[in-house]
Amino acid sequence: MTFFRSARLTILAFAALGLAACVDSSAVEMVAAAPAAPAAPRSGEAVYGTYCVACHMSGAAGAPKYGDAVAWAPRIAKGKDALYESTYNGLNGVMPARGTCMDCSDEELQATVDYMVAAAE
Ligand code: HEC
Repeated sequence: MTFFRSARLTILAFAALGLAACVDSSAVEMVAAAPAAPAAPRSGEAVYGTYCVACHMSGAAGAPKYGDAVAWAPRIAKGKDALYESTYNGLNGVMPARGTCMDCSDEELQATVDYMVAAAE
C-alpha cells in the first residue's frame, strides 16, 4: 500500500516538474515575442561607413576627404552648427541633403559630422 502511495506521489512530482518546465519555456517565448525596443542610435562611424564614405573617401565632386585636415580647415572654421545645417539641407547641389541617409535622425547626422571633423582636426 505504501509502495503505491509513494509511486503515485512520484508521478505527481514528475507531472509538477513537467508543468514547471512548460511555464518556463512559454515565459521565454513571451520575452522573445515582445516588440523590439527602438533601435539604439547609429554611431557616427557606422553612418559614415554606410552613407558618406562613397563621396568623402575619394573626394568625389569636391567633397572634403575624410581625414584631410587642409580640406576640412575652412569648413571647420565655419563652426559645427553650420556644418550640421549643410548636412541636413545639402550644399551647392553636390552635397546631398542628409548625405543620402534619409532615415538618419539629426542626432545621428551630428554624430557623423563630429566623427568626420574629429578625423580632420
Ligand atoms: C554624393 C556625394 C556625397 C555624399 C554621399 C555625402 N557628401 Fe558630404 N559633401 C559632398 C560634397 C561634394 C561636399 C562639398 C560641397 C561644397 O562645398 O560645395 C560635401 C560637404 C560636406 C560637408 C561640409 C559642409 C560645409 O558646410 O562645408 C559636411 C559636413 C558633409 N559633407 C557631411 C556629410 C555627411 C555626414 C554625409 C553622410 C551622412 C555626407 N556628407 C555624404 C558630397 C557628398
